[in-house]
Amino acid sequence: MGKVHVFDHPLIQHKLTFIRDVKTGTKEFRELVDEVATLMAYEITRDMPLRKTEVDTPVMKAESYVLAGKKIGIVPILRAGLGMVEGILELIPTAKVGHIGLYRDPNTLKPVEYYAKLPSDVGEREFIVVDPMLATGGSAVAAIDSLKSRGATNIKFMCLIAAPEGVEVLADAHPDVDIYIAALDEKLNEHGYIVPGLGDAGDRLFGTK
Ligand code: PRP
Ligand code: URA
Repeated sequence: MGKVHVFDHPLIQHKLTFIRDVKTGTKEFRELVDEVATLMAYEITRDMPLRKTEVDTPVMKAESYVLAGKKIGIVPILRAGLGMVEGILELIPTAKVGHIGLYRDPNTLKPVEYYAKLPSDVGEREFIVVDPMLATGGSAVAAIDSLKSRGATNIKFMCLIAAPEGVEVLADAHPDVDIYIAALDEKLNEHGYIVPGLGDAGDRLFGTK
């Protein structure tokens, strides 16, 4: 079973409050999602492997460490996942970015895939699938199904807000995938929205309704 990590860093929690606030407009919402994605990327990269090297400081030769060169792929679930990409690239600028397009059918709440484009060396990369919301879990499960069917074997899932229902569905479907969350909310409402949540992440990011 994958692990569920809830990031309770004070900066993440502070910014999340303003992301949730209905009075926060599109510009500020985008900026905050970007900032939280960077902070989460900092936490999520804690286990990145290092290798020993030597460096000449102005004082002497020293043993030191650099990243062991693991290849990273970021995969936003379109559309709302796009809002988290730049923030992660701030810290991992050499990551490749794949895209999986899914929308939730408003009647069935089931995800429908309309686009998929991934880096060619899928099997060699560690992927971070990103989406601000993990609600019923349908979209995350479908995106990870799609990624695995194309050869990915090493996947993490990162979101801002999750419902317990979505966490359970994702953990059951993909027990090998660790889940990283900024806040675990109370539940889903009858429309499949996270309560208290932040509303519709895609609409708030892109100013659509
Ligand atoms: C939202 C959100 C997730 C999905 C979560 O996307 O960004 O992708 O819903 O819901 P689930 O866990 O119940 O599948 P939406 O379908 O509204 O599409 P959008 O990103 O284009 O707005
Ligand atoms: N998708 C969203 O954008 N918000 C929710 O609360 C649930 C799914």
